[in-house]
Amino acid sequence: MKIGIDRIGFATTNKYLDLDDLASARGVDPNKFKIGIGQNKMAVADLAEDIVTLAINSTLEYLAEVDLTKLGLLIVGTESGIDQSKSASLFVKEALNLPNEIRTFEVKEACFGATAGLMMARDYVRAHPNHTAIVIGSDIARYGLQTSGEVTQGAGAVSMLVAGDPHIIAFEEGHASYSEDINDFWRPNNFKTALVDGKYSTEIYLKFFQQTFDTYLAQNKLTADDFAAITYHLPFTKMGLKANRLAVAAAAPDSRARLEDNFEYSTKYGREVGNLYTGSLYLSFLSLLENADTVLQPGARIGFFSYGSGAMGEFFAGELVAGYEQYLKKELHRRMLAERRKLTVAEYEDIFTKTLADLPADIELTSDVTPGKYYFAGQSGFARQYRNKK
Ligand code: HMG
Repeated sequence: MKIGIDRIGFATTNKYLDLDDLASARGVDPNKFKIGIGQNKMAVADLAEDIVTLAINSTLEYLAEVDLTKLGLLIVGTESGIDQSKSASLFVKEALNLPNEIRTFEVKEACFGATAGLMMARDYVRAHPNHTAIVIGSDIARYGLQTSGEVTQGAGAVSMLVAGDPHIIAFEEGHASYSEDINDFWRPNNFKTALVDGKYSTEIYLKFFQQTFDTYLAQNKLTADDFAAITYHLPFTKMGLKANRLAVAAAAPDSRARLEDNFEYSTKYGREVGNLYTGSLYLSFLSLLENADTVLQPGARIGFFSYGSGAMGEFFAGELVAGYEQYLKKELHRRMLAERRKLTVAEYEDIFTKTLADLPADIELTSDVTPGKYYFAGQSGFARQYRNKK
């Protein structure tokens, strides 16, 4: 039986910062951000949005289409955890009314967490062919005001239903993994923003890409010409562009053109929301499917490069399923991005500062999310409360 992604949902915040405004506030040439980094906007999460609300809202996009009697597993990958002990997935499970019988937990390895979850879900469905699993990557990327990483912040979640005989993409057997204990990016327990050795992190990302891509090609007797597209973890789109240049270096001219065009489609959403950490690779995949100017061929091979600092890399691939386009929510996503509120730099800085403050044991929060979406409603005795906006 083929196993893969059967449904996919995406959520981001309802506010963003235009990076032209950030460039002018920081005295930087706007082309550095637009071309040098390759980003246009970044999603900004306020106090009433966190990784739980993003995870819930991304899953609500397709939950009505899921047979809950078959669901056996719920995994949330995140590096923006809201509790040192309790899994964010329990809040998600409760809000979504998922069965109490499912196995559920949170996974952490920087941006690799959702991929770890996806691979566990693939193995789980292989072992339990009548069951399905939900895997969510949900994060808020924060580096700090006036840092070189500031322009590479972002927020959002991608949720995937993993099932046998999937409707969107069926994974090929196998994967190529590579890990090393290094300090390119990390967030100690007493920090609310990430520490990063930025330039070093970009070198390691490329090294891990080359390593895992070459291994995957050799294992499966493939070349770059065998791929319709390769999708990447996109901390910022220029990072993926550099990896894609490595990928196409030995490709035939027509394959090279195809891989370059499809790379551009895969970056469209990432340019508008910024780094999603765990969800980023899967947003690139969704962006490719929803922004390519023609429907991709059934059976087209799509590569996935997942990278999590610290560091862990993995390359794997899948083949698109005929009719996949019927399972996308392209118009909904376009509207979601178009209807966000643009913040001034002063508003963004104010929100950013407020989200870093410690909350008291008891607090009620209100939210301006659209009705029907979930928001973080505050704490009662330090227990987090989530509500559906009426
Ligand atoms: P920086 O100091 O702003 O970089 O930091 P820069 O001065 O080298 O400029 C960046 C690019 O803009 C350069 O191009 C410049 O030439 C160009 P490149 O050499 O890279 O091709 N540039 C211009 N282009 C056009 N017009 C201009 C102009 N001026 C300059 N006028 C850095 C950049 C990415 C290091 C910083 O933003 C950072 O530290 N970001 C956070 C770390 C990060 O995202 N690392 C990526 C790899 S690690 C990863 O992906 C994991 C991660 O997602 C976390 C996880 O796993 O959990 C981060």
